[in-house]
Amino acid sequence: MSQERYGTDDEEIDIERVRLGMLAAARDPKTFRVLEGIGVTRGMQVLELGAGAGTVSAWLADRVGDEGRVLSTDIDLQFHADMPANVEVRRHDIESDPLPAGHFDLIHARAVLQHVPSREDVVTKLVDALKPGGWLVLEDGQFMGFGEQGLAEPYRTIHRIISAGSQEEWRDPDFGLQILDRMRAHGLVDLDAVGDLWAMRPGEPGGEWWFLALERAVPHLVAAGIVSEADGEAALAQVREPGFVMLSPASIATIGRKPQV
Ligand SMILES: C[S@@+](CC[C@H](N)C(=O)[O-])C[C@H]1O[C@@H](n2cnc3c(N)ncnc32)[C@H](O)[C@@H]1O
Repeated sequence: MSQERYGTDDEEIDIERVRLGMLAAARDPKTFRVLEGIGVTRGMQVLELGAGAGTVSAWLADRVGDEGRVLSTDIDLQFHADMPANVEVRRHDIESDPLPAGHFDLIHARAVLQHVPSREDVVTKLVDALKPGGWLVLEDGQFMGFGEQGLAEPYRTIHRIISAGSQEEWRDPDFGLQILDRMRAHGLVDLDAVGDLWAMRPGEPGGEWWFLALERAVPHLVAAGIVSEADGEAALAQVREPGFVMLSPASIATIGRKPQV
């Protein structure tokens, strides 16, 4: 993923910081339930990959205690919060930088692999980095159908355009659908999956992660002549109206365990 994703404009960076915080606030409760389910215990060696703001890393650090260690990586650390002493925060590109073999009791990544072009190789790399008996938990989206949902105009048309635009060649917005099969093919056991979707509303984290991205995208559509200025403004007002509600894409957490030797 390009390191120029957020540009250098301070306001744009601030919006992205808020947006990542909204994504984390919306998704953390489910992530923590899934991780509670597999059992994160003191002394574990954990990798949080593509950590973003680091909210999951902080939760994991609390669970593994002083005897354990969390490696919290991201290709871009500008949004990463300060962490306790048992967390190592490292700038790391999962596509090109190495990971130690057979080292981690748990590797978790949320909404990361769908952005990574060589995601298939990355899954292999993550399996190699697990200890025997170690857990792999990968959460990714399933955007299929998200653009087709019932919505009032003019947002409906703009939503369809933006949803289709997110299918750029380096992204796989439906990678969440592939992971269970990849874990099976890598010989992982104790396979499981937990999927959910939710109602997205203005003023709530579960909606704002998307509406903030929309505010960034609409001016580009207007500048490119794809959407009229009036429709763009009306759509942005529409999603901010009290009572506006739409469906999220699905999010799938896939769980697997490397067999004991
Ligand atoms: C949608 S954000 C999700 C952040 C966090 N996992 C969460 O769910 O709150 C995707 C994250 O993946 C990171 N990322 C993208 N490509 C990466 C790569 N090649 N190596 C490591 N991190 C990467 C981005 O910098 C970003 O922080």
